[in-house]
Amino acid sequence: MTKIVFIEPDGTQKTVEALEGASLMLAATMGGVEGIAAECGGNCVCATCHCLVLEGPVESLSEMGEDEKDTLEFSAEKIFENSRLTCQLEACPEMDGLVFKVVGK
Ligand code: FES
Repeated sequence: MTKIVFIEPDGTQKTVEALEGASLMLAATMGGVEGIAAECGGNCVCATCHCLVLEGPVESLSEMGEDEKDTLEFSAEKIFENSRLTCQLEACPEMDGLVFKVVGK
């Protein structure tokens, strides 16, 4: 099982287990991570699953697709260099140890 760390908006750190092939948004919401509303259910529309990639095996992350870029641009309040929509990231064993900071929207 792939372990992913999320730092919630208040600074609380939570480690969740992500099933291979499932989105990191799903792993976070199932794991009770605060601050990820996932209003669109993972359809890359709402940007409420917005997180920042802080550290870990960042090379394991897929390239950002056009849909993700557009949604971040139009729906997120602010975009950072390390912004990602976690519903667009599919868990794989190589991601073990990644750390994200939750932004929400
Ligand atoms: S859950 Fe809506 S964009 Fe990710």
